[in-house]
Amino acid sequence: MIGSHLCERLISTGHEVICVDNLITGRRANLKALLSHPGFHFVQHDVVLELPTFPRLHRVYHLASPASPIGYTRSPIETLRVNSEGTRRLLELAALHRARLLYTSTSEIYGDPLEHPQTEAYRGNVSCTGPRSMYDEAKRYGEALTMAYVRARHVDARIVRIFNTYGPRADADDGRLVGNLITQALTGRAMTIYGDGTQTRSLCYVSDTVEGLIQAMESARARGEVINLGNPDERTVLECARIVRDLIGSTSEFVFMPPAVGDDPKVRCPDIRKGQALLGWGPTVGIREGLTHTIAHFREVLGMGAVRDPQPSTNGTLASHSRRDRTPLRAPARAGDAPTRSS
Ligand SMILES: NC(=O)c1ccc[n+]([C@@H]2O[C@H](COP(=O)([O-])OP(=O)(O)OC[C@H]3O[C@@H](n4cnc5c(N)ncnc54)[C@H](O)[C@@H]3O)[C@@H](O)[C@H]2O)c1
Repeated sequence: MIGSHLCERLISTGHEVICVDNLITGRRANLKALLSHPGFHFVQHDVVLELPTFPRLHRVYHLASPASPIGYTRSPIETLRVNSEGTRRLLELAALHRARLLYTSTSEIYGDPLEHPQTEAYRGNVSCTGPRSMYDEAKRYGEALTMAYVRARHVDARIVRIFNTYGPRADADDGRLVGNLITQALTGRAMTIYGDGTQTRSLCYVSDTVEGLIQAMESARARGEVINLGNPDERTVLECARIVRDLIGSTSEFVFMPPAVGDDPKVRCPDIRKGQALLGWGPTVGIREGLTHTIAHFREVLGMGAVRDPQPSTNGTLASHSRRDRTPLRAPARAGDAPTRSS
């Protein structure tokens, strides 16, 4: 979801973009507005496997990974591999092209935090064998690997820890808070609150996250840094559900269920002072405004009235290169190459 918005933003500012995605959790439909654009190239490929030969790349954005609890619970090994073996391939690619790389980590690396709000210096409270470990630990390893390439191979890489991001093209079926609540409220079904609803989340609208990704990528000062990207406007889950219900004008009831995946964090709120100081970045879209755009998108998807999608969005890994270097893409040396284990 986030990647489609990033691609559109990069294309709209004149970049050429190669988007690599195996569609394990992404959807080609998210790229509808981009596929016919001459500056956009889509390659369906698993980044764990040997990569195609690319023309000269200047930037590598690594967003490839299942991201929802349902997504990574369904594909635990793929999640571990894309953040370990996939991250290694992309770091090697960045080294080869002398390109900058941005690795998208997650607030989940803080686990169920004992420090609140979470600063980048907080080391987290994570179980390395728990029900979310395939995601949390994969991202922690991905961060460690990225830092190793910065220190040992002098790759110009940075890490961002994204906090809950929502917006148009969120998957209604992946169990994440916003898509879930909006589709249930729009279709008049009961709205599911996992837990007792007092757990907190800080929701960041996707255009703010995308702006933060680009600023972190373009800042030379962000090399070797870890930066939280999120909106510190912390709300309980129940409060988020009430806002959604209110904006939709729904009469749906709330039903309370145990969390779909264990180890659900009780609080989540980013400390974004580092991003503000280093990048001059901060979120600008309030929760009501962001949810209004997102509801409009879901109304359209559900055929409930044509409301113009405020912005488009894509998926996994993207590499961008300048329009001056328009060498065509070449297929991988050995297509269908067997998966390679990283040491
Ligand atoms: N949305 C959030 O709230 C959030 C929060 C924290 C971190 N993140 C991170 O941001 C990134 C994007 O998240 P999203 O919410 O857009 O999720 P998403 O599932 O919509 O996008 C991830 C994309 O990665 C692709 N992918 C997965 N494994 C791949 C592989 N081996 N090769 C190629 N492509 C692969 C998927 O098909 C999907 O299109 C992820 O890395 C996620 O961990 C997201």
